[in-house]
Amino acid sequence: MNSNNNEVYDYFNRPLRDLRISVTDKCNFRCTYCMPAEIFGPDYPFLKKSQLLSYEEIERLTKVFVHSLGVQKIRITGGEPLMRKDLPQLIEKINKIKGVEDIAMTTNGSLLPKFATSLKSAGLKRVSISLDSLQDEVFGKINGRDVSVKTVLDGIDAAEQAGLKVKINMVVKRGMNEQEILPMAKYFKDKGHILRFIEFMDVGNTNKWNLKDVYSKKEIIQDIHEVMPLEAIDPNYTGEVATRYRYKGSNEEIGVISSVSDAFCSTCNRARLSANGMLYTCLFSSKGHDLREPIRSDATDEQLTDLVEKIWFKRKDRYSLDRSESSTTRKKIEMSHIGG
Ligand code: GTP
Ligand code: 5AD
Ligand code: SF4
Ligand code: SF4
Repeated sequence: MNSNNNEVYDYFNRPLRDLRISVTDKCNFRCTYCMPAEIFGPDYPFLKKSQLLSYEEIERLTKVFVHSLGVQKIRITGGEPLMRKDLPQLIEKINKIKGVEDIAMTTNGSLLPKFATSLKSAGLKRVSISLDSLQDEVFGKINGRDVSVKTVLDGIDAAEQAGLKVKINMVVKRGMNEQEILPMAKYFKDKGHILRFIEFMDVGNTNKWNLKDVYSKKEIIQDIHEVMPLEAIDPNYTGEVATRYRYKGSNEEIGVISSVSDAFCSTCNRARLSANGMLYTCLFSSKGHDLREPIRSDATDEQLTDLVEKIWFKRKDRYSLDRSESSTTRKKIEMSHIGG
């Protein structure tokens, strides 16, 4: 329950609880399923500095979401959030906001050796680090920049040493890395980090998504269960995106994020704020709602609250539950704009 009694509910009675804040649309990787290099090339029109919300503007909006709209969890995303200068300064500002119960970040890990300690000191609690293979040849192709596996493993170590809680995210795509499921499961079981497998999703318009390429939750679990038996466990909290499993006879767990084969929209309590201040009520939205214009033209907190309340009240998104041929081809926001 929210102690301030300030919940807002959407059309399907889902509260607003999580705010995912993208701080940049840039990334130093070019993952084929997210920012394919042939599209996100040197001429790609990334956001200009003047278009980005400043840290003060993000802080102001976060306060409104937390104090007046029921948000409790903040997650910083990108692109790659650590491409934005002085990110620990933003974490520090958010950490001071009364009512923020959790601050996490989703990152590719490559810059964590440089920033993990200052992020932790600033108040960051958890990181989700993406890694899709333990083999350089496979991983280098997927990330589009020949980044080595060790670069990410070093980032994971740095996060751990700094005292951040770590989860690992692996996107699984048929023909790309399904053979990596078992080696990854074994490796991270021994390390004691929760590994989550993510079904390849039809986010954005550029990753040539095809249902045939989706390696489903059922297949992923089967592959692991045959070698290391699993049992299902309950969610940690309502609205958790990953279905959890435990290796039988141990406390080690994994998760599967099955947006395609088993949608979880019915409990979706997430809003997304892009780096240029657009509010999206679904990962697959075609259109956002501009919050930058009102803050730059001196809207009061009450006016901002009212605006978001109206947007949330009308929210009918449940893209994954309703996925159909026409919806997979309609224009959608790019993943790198709203960070997954
Ligand atoms: P926890 O707070 O640890 O539960 O993290 P999380 O799983 O919510 O955050 P993370 O950024 O690690 O999410 C992992 C991946 O799940 C994202 O990169 C997305 O690909 C996917 N995901 C997260 N939220 C949603 C959602 O609302 N809808 C869909 N379809 N996918 C989502
Ligand atoms: N399908 C599934 N997950 C994706 N991500 C990016 N693009 C896709 C996609 N098409 C995930 C990344 C990372 C987070 C930012 O989003 O692996 O964990
Ligand atoms: Fe960058 Fe993450 Fe997208 Fe890969 S998935 S291109 S690391 S934002
Ligand atoms: Fe939420 Fe949209 Fe993802 Fe469904 S598809 S869980 S509504 S973000």
